[in-house]
Amino acid sequence: MVKKKTVYICNECGAKFPTWAGKCSACGAWGSIVEEKEENFNKRKSFSVGDTARAVSLSQTLEETLLERIKTNILTLDEAFGGGVVKGQVILLSGEPGIGKSTLLLQVAYQIAKQGSKVLYITGEESSSQVYIRGKRINAISENIFILADTNLENVLTNIEQLNPDFVILDSVQTVYSSELESSAGSVSQVREVSARLTEIAKQKNIPVILIGQVTKEGNIAGPKVLEHIVDTVAHFEGERGNAYRVLKIVKNRFGSAGEIAVFNMTSKGLEEVKDPSSFFLSEKPQGKSGSIIFPYTEGSKPVLVEIQALVSKTVYAVPQRKAQGIDINKLSIITAILEKELNIFLKDRDIFVNVVGGMQIKEPAVDLPLALAIISSFYDKPIDNIASFGELGLTGEVRSVYYTDLRIKECEKFKVKKLVIPKSVEEYQPSFVKVSSLKEAVVKVFNEKNF
Ligand code: TYD
Ligand code: MG
Repeated sequence: MVKKKTVYICNECGAKFPTWAGKCSACGAWGSIVEEKEENFNKRKSFSVGDTARAVSLSQTLEETLLERIKTNILTLDEAFGGGVVKGQVILLSGEPGIGKSTLLLQVAYQIAKQGSKVLYITGEESSSQVYIRGKRINAISENIFILADTNLENVLTNIEQLNPDFVILDSVQTVYSSELESSAGSVSQVREVSARLTEIAKQKNIPVILIGQVTKEGNIAGPKVLEHIVDTVAHFEGERGNAYRVLKIVKNRFGSAGEIAVFNMTSKGLEEVKDPSSFFLSEKPQGKSGSIIFPYTEGSKPVLVEIQALVSKTVYAVPQRKAQGIDINKLSIITAILEKELNIFLKDRDIFVNVVGGMQIKEPAVDLPLALAIISSFYDKPIDNIASFGELGLTGEVRSVYYTDLRIKECEKFKVKKLVIPKSVEEYQPSFVKVSSLKEAVVKVFNEKNF
């Protein structure tokens, strides 16, 4: 047998190189190049004419897509997916180990099976009996759920052909390997091959396939970025260990809008839907304490009120500490720099810790202004009870407008928030609005501080 050549593949963009390098010259990513065996991907790809899809009218396609959604009957999940899972849709669900991916998907399998459909659950991470034990615990045993404990892709595909299921779940994409490739399970080529072949079969048979994806230490999906391009939908399952809240976020969806979320509560009997996440997240918000503010978060159609906390304290170190949970640490550095410059305050002898209560990861710029106000509230030790805020901060301290203003305001009104500190550009007027055009103006109006 001819020995296969070693190649170096970029995890981010899939580019191949003859030698290793610290930086990918194709996409510019650092430390993303890994060693692999050269694989001949082209040798199998010979389809007969019969396999070729036929062109159909666009209007007809749309109608078909609209009709063929399968409900998981987990209401918040169906809503997040845009009204259920579409037949032939390939979903990648990623999340840290132990967050509850297998639990959620076994619950989904059970709900689908209850409707009389056949579900194939392929487990490469656990044995069938481990899945059974989990099924018993969460009351999700059904004769319509078929378990296959196998990691060989060809066997998996044969089982799909023979069983002809209505729904397929693969737990996880990194554990399955194709014997046609030499690289080991979880490598870039294998992950790409496994997801491409399952996508092929999902489209051919018109059945939904959910792939579970592990994440790396940095929180990215383990495997090439191209994986996210192959699948129709990418969902992240987030939460803090030791905390019961779990948030499913749709980050890409070819069959609905991205940015949708579904919130769950991990109980001893599996995941429970949280129908009103705002009251859930605010249920333990302290009153009369500084450093806490309400932020109406949304990147889709469902706004959620979350609590942003900050703690500013005198440092004992030469270099002050900056720690952030649920918020990018670089964002914290930038906001701190803007605060020092605009308000003329000294924070270099203070440690600053910020936290999004509930374990939600917030990446949207609308969190800038509430984050700055929470830090100031802790710095002056002045509580800001019943105040919510949103707005992006520019580097010169200006408050910029953000998306989904109406949705955020409505959610705050529902919870009877007394004051809303928001960008001046918001057209609507309510007595509770405090419209501001700069950070300085916001601090003057909220804290009555004028000493800068
Ligand atoms: P699991 O679904 O195995 O996580 P993942 O597939 O993402 O690795 O769930 C892991 C954790 O959830 C485990 O530590 C135990 C906990 N758990 C519950 O609290 N309640 C339950 O009903 C189940 C099944 C798990
Ligand atoms: Mg698992």
